[in-house]
Amino acid sequence: MNDIEQIIDEASKKISSSNITELEIIKIKYLGKNSILTHILKSIYRYSTEDRKKIGSQANKAKVFIENEIKKRKESLEKFVINEKLKNEKLDCSQSLYFPFTKGSFHPVIKTVEDMTSVFRSLGFFTAEGCEIENDWYNFEALNIPKGHPARDFQDTFYIENTDNLLLRTHTSPSQIHIMEKQKPPVKVIVPGRVYRNENSDASHSSTFHQIEGLAVDKGVTFKDLKYILTEFVNIFFGSNLKIRFRPSHFQFTEPSAEIDIQCFSCCGNGCRLCKNSGFIEILGCGMVHPNVFKAVNYDYEKYTGYAFGIGVERIAMLKYGIDDIRLLYENDLRFLRQFL
Ligand code: DAH
Repeated sequence: MNDIEQIIDEASKKISSSNITELEIIKIKYLGKNSILTHILKSIYRYSTEDRKKIGSQANKAKVFIENEIKKRKESLEKFVINEKLKNEKLDCSQSLYFPFTKGSFHPVIKTVEDMTSVFRSLGFFTAEGCEIENDWYNFEALNIPKGHPARDFQDTFYIENTDNLLLRTHTSPSQIHIMEKQKPPVKVIVPGRVYRNENSDASHSSTFHQIEGLAVDKGVTFKDLKYILTEFVNIFFGSNLKIRFRPSHFQFTEPSAEIDIQCFSCCGNGCRLCKNSGFIEILGCGMVHPNVFKAVNYDYEKYTGYAFGIGVERIAMLKYGIDDIRLLYENDLRFLRQFL
């Protein structure tokens, strides 16, 4: 028992005069596997039952006490170090923050999504979210894209290995199906999101890009409504009365289908490098929802009609900001991004 008291006494003295490194050594010496206290506890079987109890409890108390003393000393030493450090630190509140702590801002693609979305909201559309991982049904089948269609090819689509038909969506159109499955008409919604195509990058292609899908379904919706909404969108978004051209096209999920070209605002339609001398630039695909798509979601195609459209966001951002290479949008070069602060 005297030994234990002596140990406590000795350890306390050492702890109170130690620095951080010495504390670690003290810890090992008094609490470690080869410490005297551990040794006492290990050889306790040698004593009588009564002594065993006393010695055991004293030795354990000593351990807890020394542990606490070490902890307290460590905290006070750390506080001292921090205080010393703070004494030497100066904070100049009058200094403004320059690089690298410049003001943050939205990426031009996100900014474009926001600006486009807000125009569509002002035209009465709700915004919904889709999912980036889809299956064959949503991405193709329900959209009237049959087996064997080139878009389903491995060369165009990223399939997720070892899964049953899962893929990265190649367009935002599958969100049309999700929405119609959940909601009865009338529907008037846009869905912005990221899409993936298995293709090599060049100045106008990227394997990842963004689209905004639009869908409106109700009784008596016509191509005239589609024309009105998209013309309004272009006029509000680009802030001028650019000429708009509807060109017949083909998409599996719309009939009739069209693509929209807008007058090149760089050359006002006279022809330049940006519009490849055509005076017009293609910005989106659209059309009247195909009856087979309505069938896939159990909508009565005799009762309802609808229009849909899909707009490439990067293309709009490039047109709006005069960017001539899509890769600039994904390289995250600060010299490029700072222009959008
Ligand atoms: N999903 C088409 C694409 O990625 C774009 C598109 C065209 C969407 C016509 C539509 C539409 O909703 O009606 O190329």
